[in-house]
Amino acid sequence: MGEAWPWPGRLAFGADYNPEQWTPATQDEDLDLMVEAGVNLVTLAVFSWSRLEPEPGVFDFEWLDRVIDRLWSRGVHVDLATATATPPAWLVRRHPEVLPVTADGTQLEFGSRQTYCPSSPIFRQHAVRLSRELARHYRDHPALALWHVSNEYGDELSRCYCDVSTERFRAWLQHRYSDLAALNQAWGTDVWGQRYSQWGQIAAPRKTAAPVNPAQRLDFERFSSDELIELLRAEVAVLRAECPNVLVTTNFMGLFRDVDYWRMADSEDVVSNDAYPDPADAASHVSAALGFALMRSLKPSTPWLLMEQAPGAVSWRAVNAVKPPGQMRLTSLQALAHGADGIMFFQWRASRAGAERFHSALVGHRGPVGRTWSEARDLGRELRGLGEIAGSRVIADVGLLVGWDSWWALDAGEALPSVRFSWLEQVRVWHEALFRLGITVELVNPDCAQFDHRMLVAPNLFLQSAEQAERLERYVESGGHLVVGPFSGVVDETNAVHLGGAPGPLRDLLGVTVDEWCPLPDEESQVVAYAGAKLDAVSWTESLERTTATVAGTYERGWLAGRPAVTVNRVEKGSARYISLVAPTADLEVLLRDALESAGIKARAQSSADVEFVTRRGAHATYLFVLNHTANVVDVDVPTPSVDMLTGRREEHTMTLLPRGAAVLRSTVQTNQEQRCV
Ligand code: GAL
Repeated sequence: MGEAWPWPGRLAFGADYNPEQWTPATQDEDLDLMVEAGVNLVTLAVFSWSRLEPEPGVFDFEWLDRVIDRLWSRGVHVDLATATATPPAWLVRRHPEVLPVTADGTQLEFGSRQTYCPSSPIFRQHAVRLSRELARHYRDHPALALWHVSNEYGDELSRCYCDVSTERFRAWLQHRYSDLAALNQAWGTDVWGQRYSQWGQIAAPRKTAAPVNPAQRLDFERFSSDELIELLRAEVAVLRAECPNVLVTTNFMGLFRDVDYWRMADSEDVVSNDAYPDPADAASHVSAALGFALMRSLKPSTPWLLMEQAPGAVSWRAVNAVKPPGQMRLTSLQALAHGADGIMFFQWRASRAGAERFHSALVGHRGPVGRTWSEARDLGRELRGLGEIAGSRVIADVGLLVGWDSWWALDAGEALPSVRFSWLEQVRVWHEALFRLGITVELVNPDCAQFDHRMLVAPNLFLQSAEQAERLERYVESGGHLVVGPFSGVVDETNAVHLGGAPGPLRDLLGVTVDEWCPLPDEESQVVAYAGAKLDAVSWTESLERTTATVAGTYERGWLAGRPAVTVNRVEKGSARYISLVAPTADLEVLLRDALESAGIKARAQSSADVEFVTRRGAHATYLFVLNHTANVVDVDVPTPSVDMLTGRREEHTMTLLPRGAAVLRSTVQTNQEQRCV
């Protein structure tokens, strides 16, 4: 009998499988090879709509029945896609309005993938119809472990500017603002003479002569994200109605700008993620860690699944670097360390034809030989030995506040004090500083009802509402420690500037007011004197006025010399720090190390991005993952004598990790309870 995923005591291992690209003989071989590699879950039918419904209303599930039955005869479960990631040719030819339109008015052609307008009622209706048919057909199949809705929503196309989208945008705005006067007020349409006297005058923000209205653009980002979420919801509703016992997922893409994953994750049961760190980037494991942290934070009480990663090279970068030996295993173990209960790949067998023919696969064009294949089999074996980790949870003391509204509001790239201030870059640098200090973070939604981490770090809160600020105040008053980065508390929900000076509704909490933002041109830098050290400010500084905060660091150069750069405000039982500069990672580490210390959180003595420690706690044991992200042999201290589950060896005092090596140290000593946002 099959079981729905997640599986207690067992990790998932498998790949996207596209049998329709292969002959029956090759499919036979696939089954044997899957058993040999220990594959227990495959994703099927992601791009199979045109096969499953070759003509309108004519369904052909026979070929898929055969595949699923045969997989199941070998004990392989199925993560069954709803196949709606790409509409079939007949659909777009019958209804050309399904084809999306870009901001410059170009209608995109069929012949690639994901060529549909997310707002198209025709597309939605057909997608739901196909999902319903599939759910009715497969709901009792014992192989069915999980539903995989669509694929990477918004990846190829997330914003459509066609007439249908424009109509839906207007309806969305009517729902949000009720009357036009409220919209004119919220969008500040008196600036540049943009007042609307009828709803029908409002358009999606297509290409304009000069910068588009920032409130309009922000609402369009929200609307477009909502439309993709609506699409997911529509399919999920029929799957749940027809097949209530099988959980539903859709694969995410780490920290992806175009969809608010806090909201999208609410509409699925299981979070899954696709991760493609660039092997040519020596720091890509740090951004992978950030994406993994987001995944486990979206649904803290359920494990997530690494749905896709490349076994070797991808085929969509300018230069597609190969993963060196051991890298595929290390990234897989890193995902496990961060709470994944399954490791999957794109894809099982490398395609001969089509746009991804140069993408790596577990079984390459040479067949089941070569380095990747042998690493895949080893990984399958190793994962079988780690089954007891399934269901355990990651321990994180620090919350990293990350909200899509600030990202969208700030990410305009035009009409801002500086184009060099990047929301994503700030989040990455602040996360990297914490990573180097050995801190495992949980990502926290700024709209969370209550904050529970001992320390909250906000790299940027550009958009800050009064309600959000109030919750942060309550958090700090009750003993929380908050650190806020530059250019925060600037605008409200409508992207209009808070009067009275930044950080707007956070002024009292932080005890400072910004008099002026002082972005730095490329050739200029600034120095900050902080606790006996000299720290660099790059690209961004601010002229601050202190109200109740204590000054912890001051600018040194030019007319800002002597003015506050870093401040600490003690508020009842907690503290609120403001860092007004953009600092390089190493300097940010100095600032964050102090903040951690005053929150009573221990940072690593020696900063390092090379060796990562992450702990998962289970009912009976704790698992410390130690990951060597370098190409060198490294010695690490073993905090508690314990057995490495990967080697079976007992490790004490220090242990040696091979290049790209790892250890999973199992101990029955329980660590302290972590705190989280509920
Ligand atoms: C993902 C996608 C897969 C495959 C993969 C290649 O974005 O979901 O279908 O195209 O990239 O790296």
